[in-house]
Amino acid sequence: MKVLFLILAMFQAAPKGNVETGKTLFMKYGCFECHGREAQGGAGTGPKLGPAPIPFSAFVYQVRSPRDQMPPYTSKVLSDAELADIYAFVQAAPQPPKVDSLPQLK
Ligand code: HEC
Repeated sequence: MKVLFLILAMFQAAPKGNVETGKTLFMKYGCFECHGREAQGGAGTGPKLGPAPIPFSAFVYQVRSPRDQMPPYTSKVLSDAELADIYAFVQAAPQPPKVDSLPQLK
């Protein structure tokens, strides 16, 4: 039974976050300094995060224990609920234009 719950938890959708609150937190905690104001990524500072972020569990894991250069944010500093809001904001990031829709150089 326990195993079943674990499997279900893995497939659980990301908690519902608030995009506006997420945007405020993204600024407040300085995520924007490295990942850009629209989570579009910065040149050499941090990768693009949205609009199709990595799964929520991986997102939380990266923020709590970054794999490389990013500073860690513990749950004391940034709660899971706040992270859910940030995740919602990142998901709502604008889609970059399709290459075909850009003006073509002749
Ligand atoms: C000082 C710069 C910096 C700040 C501030 C920062 N990040 Fe990062 N972030 C990075 C870098 C660099 C990476 C690449 C992996 C690494 O270094 O751990 C990264 C990776 C990530 C990833 C993984 C992306 C992927 O596709 O694998 C997520 C998610 C993320 N950051 C979220 C956040 C959030 C949310 C915040 C704010 C709470 C934040 N970051 C603040 C620099 C930063």
